[in-house]
Amino acid sequence: MATVVELLTSGTARLRASGSESARLDAELLLGWAVGAERTALIAHPDAPVGADAAAAYEGAVARREAGEPVAYIRGLKEFYGLAFSVDARALIPRPETELLVAQAEREVAWRLLSAPRPPGTPKLRVVDVGTGSGAVAVALAVVLRQRRMLPEISILAADVSADALSLARENAVGHAVAEEIAFAEADLLPAGGPPIDLVLANLPYIPSGDIDGLPVAASFEPRLALDGGPDGLDVIRRLLAALPAALATEGTALLEIGFDQGPAVEALVAGLGEGWACRIQDDLSGKPRLAHVERSAAASARAGFPGAY
Ligand SMILES: C[S@@+](CC[C@H](N)C(=O)[O-])C[C@H]1O[C@@H](n2cnc3c(N)ncnc32)[C@H](O)[C@@H]1O
Repeated sequence: MATVVELLTSGTARLRASGSESARLDAELLLGWAVGAERTALIAHPDAPVGADAAAAYEGAVARREAGEPVAYIRGLKEFYGLAFSVDARALIPRPETELLVAQAEREVAWRLLSAPRPPGTPKLRVVDVGTGSGAVAVALAVVLRQRRMLPEISILAADVSADALSLARENAVGHAVAEEIAFAEADLLPAGGPPIDLVLANLPYIPSGDIDGLPVAASFEPRLALDGGPDGLDVIRRLLAALPAALATEGTALLEIGFDQGPAVEALVAGLGEGWACRIQDDLSGKPRLAHVERSAAASARAGFPGAY
């Protein structure tokens, strides 16, 4: 019977030869998945024997990874915002950088709920996650707001143009016991109708079409619809920004994840919305400008409509 260290050594060598830049970590995650243990347990017990069924499952997983399939799809699991999400080819694997979007959404909701009195009868704060994919953003936000006892004052809608993605998002909402708190809609960008939205959250596709073939092979296993943002990467974001004047509340905010080099173009698009709109770009933890805060201000709009306004 092969031992943990033997399987890890052979798997790491195969994955390194196939071009993985994280061969040892990949092998540990895949063996942990095959034996049903945390990778830390494997590291602590290198001489433990691995049963034949688990070894065969591991061999199959290593072969899939050698072919370029992402580890997250093979394990069917990805951690995001400290939570485990089911993932498969129906939707994009949530990325660590998108945690900034959730953190800022949490901050924005808390500020709106705590900065002014909310007498009984105040309508719920309306939050829409556009392009929800696996549901990572909407579900993570619902979970943290539940922990902060803020969920009863919020309505969350998760929308996607992909029915496949929505089915996965629903499964993740059920898995985290927030399915009752999130509504789902199959829609091109913002669902039609409904009251004004207080907070739009969007990690939409923003990769230029011409760059898609140059992405690591793992991305070829993900839906192209989740990645391809058209010739300059901004096709879908441009359409969302154009839809905001009809959908966002007068003091509403939209938080948009963008490519690191798209800040100036997004600022120009927001400037094109006219008076009453502002945009600032926030850096992520690695110092890259990745999150656009698009704000609509009633005061600025009213000033713009006042005779002699400047
Ligand atoms: C980059 S993925 C992000 C998924 C998820 N929000 C996340 O952060 O992991 C973009 C998502 O937008 C969806 N999408 C693409 N075009 C769309 C459109 N016109 N309207 C709504 N959703 C769209 C895709 O199906 C995909 O699920």
